[in-house]
Formats: sequence, structure tokens, C-alpha cells
Amino acid sequence: MTDLLIDNVTVATMASGVTPCGLIRNGRVLVRDGRIAWVGPRADAPATEAETLDGRSGLLTPGLIDCHTHLVYGGSRALEWERRLNGASYADISREGGGIMSTVRATRLLDEAGLVDAALPRLDALRSEGVTTVEIKSGYALETEGELRMLRAARTLGDLRDVDVRTTLLAAHAIPPEHDADGYIDLIIAEMLPRATGLADAVDAFCEGVAFSREQVDRLFRAARAHGFPVKLHAEQLSNLGGAAMAARHGALSADHLEYLDEAGVAAMAGTVAVLLPGAYYVLRETQRPPVDLLRRHGVPIAVATDLNPGSSPIASPLLVMNMACTLFHLTPEEALAGFTRVAAQALGLSDRGTVAAGQRADLCLWRVEHPAELVYAIGQNRLATVFRGGRIVLERPA
Ligand code: NIG
Ligand code: FE
Repeated sequence: MTDLLIDNVTVATMASGVTPCGLIRNGRVLVRDGRIAWVGPRADAPATEAETLDGRSGLLTPGLIDCHTHLVYGGSRALEWERRLNGASYADISREGGGIMSTVRATRLLDEAGLVDAALPRLDALRSEGVTTVEIKSGYALETEGELRMLRAARTLGDLRDVDVRTTLLAAHAIPPEHDADGYIDLIIAEMLPRATGLADAVDAFCEGVAFSREQVDRLFRAARAHGFPVKLHAEQLSNLGGAAMAARHGALSADHLEYLDEAGVAAMAGTVAVLLPGAYYVLRETQRPPVDLLRRHGVPIAVATDLNPGSSPIASPLLVMNMACTLFHLTPEEALAGFTRVAAQALGLSDRGTVAAGQRADLCLWRVEHPAELVYAIGQNRLATVFRGGRIVLERPA
């Protein structure tokens, strides 16, 4: 591959500890063999024969990384949302067999091609706002063949589109009607974990009163770790069950949601990323905010993701979700962008992306804005110009 010089840009390197956003004005980035070879101010740039792309004073950021989505599913939950607007709670609907179970019924009806067709527009929506890496969970089939089918569909999406897909087995998302909770955990351990090897990059679970207890998830995680899977957890979303601390004891990549996390839980999270999901908080009209100040004080890295799913977060807009992270959770725009780049990479266990630095993959977004805060501030105004994946232009948007 020939070298590429991206010239005349402000670079938000998102390098850790270099505020604000590791910004380099009048910057230049040299790409070689799909990786970043050099980044810095134009004045210091080494001479090069590389083909040059004029960034027209735009902002160059790492490609966005959405580290928590459930974008493979069948059906829609618009009518259930209407019921919730009229007062029914997420937990009420879930107890009546709606909620996640209604998506399970619709998802079980689809074959792999049907799942891919249903998911593609959602994936394309994320890509149109600069997503270059996306995590996709299973969890809407709740039986072995269906869960594996969801994972295969997720992998196929990555083959069909210029985006990196990381897959997560979330079989422990809800208790299927065919089993009790313990029996279903037994089934996941006996049947699904062995067959998910090579198909799933991690194992997730939903630790909640309406789903699985901490003890059940603990048992699942021990088995998952024994199979070599990294783990992560939907924790403390609707109540505090001590899930995040338990996940951290398993060396979890991340604990996600966390609205009901207390200080003891925060203190126990060393090494685990807090993934905040303001879309679900917004759609569920939650009022308890995650303990952002405590997370900061204890040095827990904060990622932000769409949680794109049909129930609690039908939102395929990373730009809107970054805005929500600031408006609803009081993150700074810099924290929100780091949460969708550097820290999101950490939440997926990926060290080769998430910043603009020599040696990193050249997954980059060029935006028609001057400063990172503008990206996060302007609602409904997608200023994306160009997306590079491994140094190749994979998306260009007219001005
Ligand atoms: O991340 N909390 C559980 N899982 C999803 C919701 C899934 C659904 O409602 O379909 C979440 O919010
Ligand atoms: Fe989720």
C-alpha cells in the first residue's frame, strides 16, 4: 500500500493525560501500510513523497468505537415504548413476558440472512457517524443454535461492511421460558461456551432482579474464564446487586450501565472500564445518574456507547449519545470523545486503536469542525467528511 499524508488538519490525538484531547493544531499525519507512521505539527514533519490529502483545516480524530451494542435482532418495540410512555415500567413489561422476550420471539423467527438484513441499516447508521469498530452482542435467541446464529450474523456484518466487528456472547441476557435461571446457566456453560470459541470475543451477562443473580453470573464467568473468554457485565442498571465488583474480580474488561453503583462498587472496579450508556437512561426516563464523580475520583476509566437495542436504547447515533453523556451525565466533551475512542478501545481489550499515535491502526475520521467540542455540541448535524480504515478511505460525505 502506498503512503498517505493527511495534511492541514487539527489532530485530536486523544492521547491519555494530554489535555485538551491531545490537540495538535496545523497538524499532519503520515500513514504507511495501514498504520500511523508519524503524527505532529506540520513544521516538524519529515519530508515525504507520499500522496497528499488536504484536510482543509478540519478535525482529525480516531475512528469512533461503539463498545456496547445489541444491533442484531428481529422486530421492533415501538408499541411497548408507547406503553411505557403511558406509565408501564421496563421491569413491569419484562415481568409480563414483554421487553427482551418479545424481541426474542421475533429474533428466533429469523435465519442468519434475515438477521443480517435487519441489522444492516442500523450498522450503516453507526458508520455514517464515523464508527470504525463496533461491538455486537447476541442475547435475543436464548437457545444454543440461535445464539450462535446471532454471532455468525454479527461476523457476517463485518465481512459485508468496512468496519471491525467484535462479538460478545450475551446468552445470559434473560431467562428463556424453557428453563429456570440455574438450569439455563448450566446450559450456557455446557453447550454454548464450548461452541462459541472462535465465534465470540467475550462473554457478557445481565445481572439484575429481572435477569440473573450475582451468584449465577459468578458461576458463568468462572466457566467463561476457564474457556479463555474475557468477560464484561450489564451491572447496576436498575438496582445495586454488587455486579460490578464481582465482574472486576474476574478481571472484567468492563461493567456497563452502572446507574445504581455505590462507592464500594466503584472502589472495587480497578482495571475494569465503566461503560456509560446515556441512551438507555434517557429512553427509560431513569433519574438516578451513574456516579461519575466517584468514578473520576477513583480513576476508573469511563467509556460511552450507544447500547443500540430495540428496548432501552433504539439509538444509532454516537454523536447524539456523546451529547447525552455531557448533558445528562455531566461528562466533559473531551471525556465523551475519549469514551468513544481511547477508552472504548480499552473496554474491548484492543490496544491497537483509539488514539492517533505512531504505530496505531490508521482508523481515522476527518470532520468539518475546528474543535472536538463542536462535534459533541451540535445535535443532529453530522459534520463527518471522510472515514479511513487501515489508512484506506472507506466513506466520503459531501459537504
Ligand atoms: O443494555 N439491560 C439489558 N439489556 C439491554 C436492553 C435490552 C432490551 O431491552 O432489549 C440494555 O439496556
Ligand atoms: Fe446493553
